[in-house]
Amino acid sequence: MNETILILDFGSQYTQLIARRLRELNVYCEIHPFNKIPNDLSAVKGVILSGSPFSVRDEGSPVPELSGIRKKLPLLGICYGAQFLARHDGGDVQPSKIREYGRANLGFIDGNSKLMHGISLNCQVWMSHGDTILNIPENYEIISSTESVKVAGFKISGEETYGIQFHPEVYHSTEGSMLLKNYVVDICGCRQEWTADSFVETSVDSLRKKLRNDKVVLGLSGGVDSSVAAILLHKAIGKNLYCIFVDNGLLRKNEFAEVLHSYKDLGLNVKGVDASDRFLDALKGVGEPEKKRKVIGNTFIDVFDHEAHLIEDVKWLAQGTIYPDVIESVSVKGPSATIKSHHNVGGLPDFMKLKIVEPLNALFKDEVRRIGRSMNMPGFILNRHPFPGPGLGIRILGEVTPEKVRVLQEVDHIFIQGLRDDNLYDKVWQSLAVLLPVSSVGVMGDERTYENVVALRAVGSTDGMTADWSHLPYEFLSKISNKIINQVKGVNRVVYDISSKPPSTIEWE
Ligand code: XMP
Repeated sequence: MNETILILDFGSQYTQLIARRLRELNVYCEIHPFNKIPNDLSAVKGVILSGSPFSVRDEGSPVPELSGIRKKLPLLGICYGAQFLARHDGGDVQPSKIREYGRANLGFIDGNSKLMHGISLNCQVWMSHGDTILNIPENYEIISSTESVKVAGFKISGEETYGIQFHPEVYHSTEGSMLLKNYVVDICGCRQEWTADSFVETSVDSLRKKLRNDKVVLGLSGGVDSSVAAILLHKAIGKNLYCIFVDNGLLRKNEFAEVLHSYKDLGLNVKGVDASDRFLDALKGVGEPEKKRKVIGNTFIDVFDHEAHLIEDVKWLAQGTIYPDVIESVSVKGPSATIKSHHNVGGLPDFMKLKIVEPLNALFKDEVRRIGRSMNMPGFILNRHPFPGPGLGIRILGEVTPEKVRVLQEVDHIFIQGLRDDNLYDKVWQSLAVLLPVSSVGVMGDERTYENVVALRAVGSTDGMTADWSHLPYEFLSKISNKIINQVKGVNRVVYDISSKPPSTIEWE
């Protein structure tokens, strides 16, 4: 069992960052909603209470039940977490006179405190709070202060319970990682053994125990997550893992053949299914983006269901789900009621009745890559840009036709290959080409042309939630634009997308 730090989520935008920082310290942690504390705490070495958009003074603000934890396990309250503890114990929390956001410096540090050990006087911390702890209960000791916040950090006497007003998880808190390390290592006693290699070893072991001789089916997409999940499962159960890689006709040029080939090279038991005609037929006459997504999604389910049926006696469906998809976040607006679309269509396809195994559901995206590297997977697969499930289907604006797919594949290929050739591919997070539903006038030789416009887009991002357009060199853009117009019949104009997200999304549809 992994030594675990439990992070109780009160809805702060920074909660996932706390988890990221702890993982960087090679300490395993899990985020749980503040009101869903797991019953089994046997592996838990410490608990962190996150921040929150609520004020502890608000009616209906989140109130955790800490009686099973406090004085039994070390506890660290951050921002709201600290204010909650202070107020709960009889301290006074009031709206700040000056709302304190941004940089501050720790002008006082109690050097004897285990939490503050080694932290430099006057180091920068990141504040983001509308409330301040004005008075602390008697058994609290102040362990750090800033010029305007006297209680920037406290310890409760007689217990390993701490609170801090600033956010150590944010990079702008320059020594935040050291503070978190003090907490998880010196106070909670974690051994920092959560590494890629140890993850592979323990996962393979537990997958073997769980799956025994059962057959497992997995849909490969060519993306990082499903590929790493497949290799991990393959390590555990070998040929009992049946992979299905579907060509929906909306992949990049040559991608189906190349990726299928490299999967086979990796030793995977993989079946390539060319269903392009079926997808393109289903897309005939469909122009609305969400409708296209539905048609592509439903066709995939039909194809996959049919293929899964051909595997006799298969018991499990493996998925490359990662941690951000499974974290049950505390919603500020109340429990969200999103119903996945497949729950709306009467009757589930047969493969959805299989038992589910998700070997990556405790990992963040870059950890998935690290696990892949530790299993010696090729960079070609691990460093690929994200590619959406509906593929080129949502990059051909309006109706999708085989001819438009051909044109976009050629354009996209020139762009992507150009990025690789000029060592720019790894410098951008995602790159894509879009075929616009407009024609523009041009001139080639002595002839007037009236042909398609394509847009190129390259963005920098960390998680796709926000993104900025990449400042690719003009010389590169000029070269690519010439190449596209000269080589791709049907295109006479190239534009570069210089919009950031928000407000623009990464994809155009
Ligand atoms: P947007 O366009 O919302 O995209 O800024 C954010 C990230 O999500 C990808 N994306 C999708 N992925 N199915 C997918 O599997 C989809 O329908 C879909 N739409 C957008 C997009 O490529 C980007 O990485």
